[in-house]
Amino acid sequence: MVSNTLIQFAYLVAAVCFILGLRLLSSPKSAPRGNLLAAVGMAIAVISTLLVSGIVNWTIIAAGVAVGAVIGAVLALRIQMTAMPQMVALLNGFGGAASALVASAEFLTGEVAPTSVVSFAIVASVLVGSLTLTGSIIAFAKLQELMRGAPIVYPGQRFVNAVIGAGAIALCVATVMDPTNLQTYAGVVGVALVLGITLVIPIGGADMPVVIALLNSYSGIAAGATGFVLDNSALVVSGALVGASGLILTKIMCDAMNRSLANVLFGAFGAVEEGAAAASGEQGSVKGYTPEDAAVIFSNASSVIVVPGYGMAVAQAQHAVRELADVLTEKGIRVDFAIHPVAGRMPGHMNVLLAEADVPYDQLKEMEEINSSFQEADVALVIGANDVVNPSARSEPSSPIYGMPILDVDKSRHVFVLKRSMNPGFAGVQNPLFFLENTMMIFGDAKQTVLKLVESVKSY
Ligand code: TAP
Repeated sequence: MVSNTLIQFAYLVAAVCFILGLRLLSSPKSAPRGNLLAAVGMAIAVISTLLVSGIVNWTIIAAGVAVGAVIGAVLALRIQMTAMPQMVALLNGFGGAASALVASAEFLTGEVAPTSVVSFAIVASVLVGSLTLTGSIIAFAKLQELMRGAPIVYPGQRFVNAVIGAGAIALCVATVMDPTNLQTYAGVVGVALVLGITLVIPIGGADMPVVIALLNSYSGIAAGATGFVLDNSALVVSGALVGASGLILTKIMCDAMNRSLANVLFGAFGAVEEGAAAASGEQGSVKGYTPEDAAVIFSNASSVIVVPGYGMAVAQAQHAVRELADVLTEKGIRVDFAIHPVAGRMPGHMNVLLAEADVPYDQLKEMEEINSSFQEADVALVIGANDVVNPSARSEPSSPIYGMPILDVDKSRHVFVLKRSMNPGFAGVQNPLFFLENTMMIFGDAKQTVLKLVESVKSY
């Protein structure tokens, strides 16, 4: 078998690939290379581990690879792009579960010394991995609409969570002190599974991005801890990278939602006062427009800001949107794309779709960069976005999205909103934007509407 020095060297190469891969992911242009490099690093790490003497039962490994590959391939082929966030949530959960299972195997079969690094690592992995599993399943169920997306709250919830958390810590300490005690170990698993559920159910609506990023980080922390259990440096490094980058993403999502990280960590955010959602509904009449009518305003505009949202992903309208941008640009109209950090259902969702349609990167503007431009824009074209352009986030303290920074489309001269109905967005709240004097609704599937707009603007 291969010498330990060679294995450690291979792990070092894998770690360098992971770090450089992450670095390359920071720009859309270099991201595909980053992905590839990280995948090469993972292949090196996996192959090297298989070459470590004495740890491999080839039959079981082959069976695991075969079953996993079939399930993975079927899922990857069948999953819709719009269901990607649910898939990511599930994969986070499976990652956590795998780490907890491996650490548990070591606990149940190995001789673990009390208060040793390994006993700490086992308990950390089992605790974090188990709560990641159930938390991710709840996040999956909410995103898949298998359960109510709105926060599930009850009186004394924070106290109950604090008691469960304290119980988990006490059981962890007892297990670290006496790693032969199966009861306390089973207690850690059970309480962590419950904690995952109780921490995620009160979170709903617009706050889900923060939860997904945090669970992603947790799955990395569990993997890193398992790396210490197995004394495997590649797992320690990759787990630490996932944990740290997940935390950074959590911070970015918190900033995007204007929530503090402390709120997130204590699971006490996103709770909506009863009736608040209804209260934020604004009544009045809306103006329905046709694409043909809208084409007149577009053709006379000198600047248009396109605001894509989840509906663009559902309609798969990105190519049509690119065509519209091209037609407008040919007419001498300036076109920019305003990207809200939580538009869609996963970080970077809009960037990915627009990149797929070859929209030039320099036309994509982040919220801070573009927001002051709306007041000078002739047209804001909102394509399947709702929560991220909801002005009640600025003005309605009882709204569950109050405080979330939004794209200020309402400040544009004309606002066109493309959606199919008056249904609310992910947060479940009505949008006063639709009732404003300068807003015109074009009802219908976003792709069909944009294609009609393209034809109408061309022939105007
Ligand atoms: P949403 O607020 O979810 O609104 C999407 C809108 O698209 C809906 O109002 C829907 O209205 C419309 N729509 C759906 N299918 C359509 C189609 N085929 N054609 C035209 N319109 C269509 O979207 P958003 O503004 O992008 O906001 C994202 C929300 O998701 C935020 O609340 C965010 O916090 C949450 N979230 C984000 C993430 C990440 S990381 N980005 C993760 C989880 C949750 P109709 O049904 O009337 O057509």
